[in-house]
Amino acid sequence: MTLPTLPPDVDEIVPGVVADRRYLHENPELGFDEHVTSKFVVERLEALGAEDIQSGIAGTGVTALIHGTRGEGKCVLLRADMDALPILEETPVEFASQNPGVMHACGHDGHTAMLLGVARILTERRDQFPGSVKLCFQPSEEANAGGAKPMIEAGVLENPHVDACFGQHVMSDRPTGEVWVGGGPIQASADMFTITVQGKGGHGAIPHTAIDSIMVASDIVSGLHKIVSRNIDPLDPVVISVCSFHSGTAFNVIPDTAELKGTVRTFSPENRDLAEKRLKEVAEGVAAAQGATVTIDYDRGYPPTINDDAMSALAAASIAKIVGEDNVKPMVPIMPAEDMSYFLEERPGCYFMTGCGNEEKGIVWPHHHPRFDLDEDVLGIGVAALAQVAIDYLNAES
Ligand code: NI
Repeated sequence: MTLPTLPPDVDEIVPGVVADRRYLHENPELGFDEHVTSKFVVERLEALGAEDIQSGIAGTGVTALIHGTRGEGKCVLLRADMDALPILEETPVEFASQNPGVMHACGHDGHTAMLLGVARILTERRDQFPGSVKLCFQPSEEANAGGAKPMIEAGVLENPHVDACFGQHVMSDRPTGEVWVGGGPIQASADMFTITVQGKGGHGAIPHTAIDSIMVASDIVSGLHKIVSRNIDPLDPVVISVCSFHSGTAFNVIPDTAELKGTVRTFSPENRDLAEKRLKEVAEGVAAAQGATVTIDYDRGYPPTINDDAMSALAAASIAKIVGEDNVKPMVPIMPAEDMSYFLEERPGCYFMTGCGNEEKGIVWPHHHPRFDLDEDVLGIGVAALAQVAIDYLNAES
């Protein structure tokens, strides 16, 4: 596809953004261990003349401010995640990971490099906006004990008070040049559960004297799969998956315990509450009916990522200025969770998906794959798009 013509100031810095991305790609670090990355980000921000640079937030997080010269105004937060994954890289690129077993296989190297590019553009365009831009480089998105929540708890949404949040994720299954934007729920929540069934052990040949934990747990698995089909509105999707089932050690012993582990994914707070409530009722009820008991450990992970409608409309209009209206696509929700959700729970905003796939270049591998790569042509597009969103937001009425 034809790539958009970038604004001249963005076009000029693209080689620098590419170089930053390659440096970050070569030096990937796992969540909360982004020390080299964080230091690199701070050095770049210092060189640019960004203000109020703060590091060590929630471990390795970094924030900085860029003040516009058009007077007082709102504050918009732009967020990038910095962490890599525990994957042994298998790409042929010359800037492959120098840290064996750790790889930027989700494009967060691109996110970080692009936000540094945005910082560079906005420091040069201070005369185009009032208020301020808060740059937020977040540790650990991948671990599901992510960096967004502790950064918020550390106060990144205040001083100055943040009014809206924006960010982007590259997507290798969508072509470079297209951007996917839309309001409403865009990514699912990710909760985890462990159900331990306590029955009564016994001889495999004398089952009537035992309470068979395997059979109780099997019935619970079967019951859990009925929650989605019978209790959940089919127009608001939910996934409940039991992904681990452990019990027993011998062919002739009925085990007294069984353990189930799984995940629950939802797109709305209402369904999230309902799925948790029903899961507990089903597990407890099924166990009670057979004389067993259960202990349930239900652990809430990332909430659903929900974009604000008005902020998404604003972002779509801004991004259209960069890639053209035809290349702004309506957002298609995806099941994987994302801790940008915490920012969007606290403030209105929009998280959009920037295509980074390119079949001609062989950039077709999915995220979290050892051969994942991003088409570097996305970098300039992402910089121009996010900078435009920030400028338009700060100049908007109200
Ligand atoms: Ni990611």
